[in-house]
Amino acid sequence: MKGVILAGGKGSRLSPLTLITNKHLLPVYNQPMIHYPIQTLKNIGVKEILIVSGRNHVGHFLELLGSGEDSGLRFSYTIQEREGGIAEALALAENFAGGEPVAVVLGDNIFEDHFKEDALSFKEGARIFLKEVVDPERFGVAELDSNNKVENIVEKPTSPKTNYAVTGLYIYDADVFKIIKTLKPSARGELEITDVNNQYISKGKMDARFVKGFWSDTGTFESLHRASAFLREKEIACSIDKEGR
Ligand code: G1P
Repeated sequence: MKGVILAGGKGSRLSPLTLITNKHLLPVYNQPMIHYPIQTLKNIGVKEILIVSGRNHVGHFLELLGSGEDSGLRFSYTIQEREGGIAEALALAENFAGGEPVAVVLGDNIFEDHFKEDALSFKEGARIFLKEVVDPERFGVAELDSNNKVENIVEKPTSPKTNYAVTGLYIYDADVFKIIKTLKPSARGELEITDVNNQYISKGKMDARFVKGFWSDTGTFESLHRASAFLREKEIACSIDKEGR
């Protein structure tokens, strides 16, 4: 399985922090944001990671992360020329994936859980990861049947039917690239990852897992702050543990 981190976009909800810098280079507690999705993929056991970002910033990622040699990883980089949405950015990974399944993480998503088993047991189709949240209208929202099977996903609904947000970690088989080629831009002019997921659902090839530990995006001031505060608490708790106090 290969890994893809989507780290493009304008980050306009974090302006003025993102006027000059890419959102995924901003600090989340004591690390640049991009370090967290890299760790999520590393925990899965992925070694080869493609980072997709805009033309203005891809060089910054290269400077920060290099080849990946230091951390036992192999990084590749590619440029998304337009703000065409998550699915359009993912389409750029087709050659990199080379027919293998891909674990895709949105560069602004922070996960506490490890997903190794979820990746090892993946065979085909698509797997998404759900988390109950208090503000589902900010996310893709999953509607589930009585067996917790996903029936439908609605992107940023005004009246969400459930509190299950679709988090920014997805595992896809190679069909994902064929599906993306069939997509039409949404009302906001983007190729939506939610449309990709709904196609897998309609083919009966989607399953969902539930995220147990902390999860947050970091795309707004509030969520960025929440993630930083969580990571700070965790770091303090770990260092107290180590010191045996
Ligand atoms: C994107 C996806 C949404 C998902 C969210 C997770 O939203 O479109 O379905 O729930 O990431 O972070 P965005 O952050 O681009 O608004």
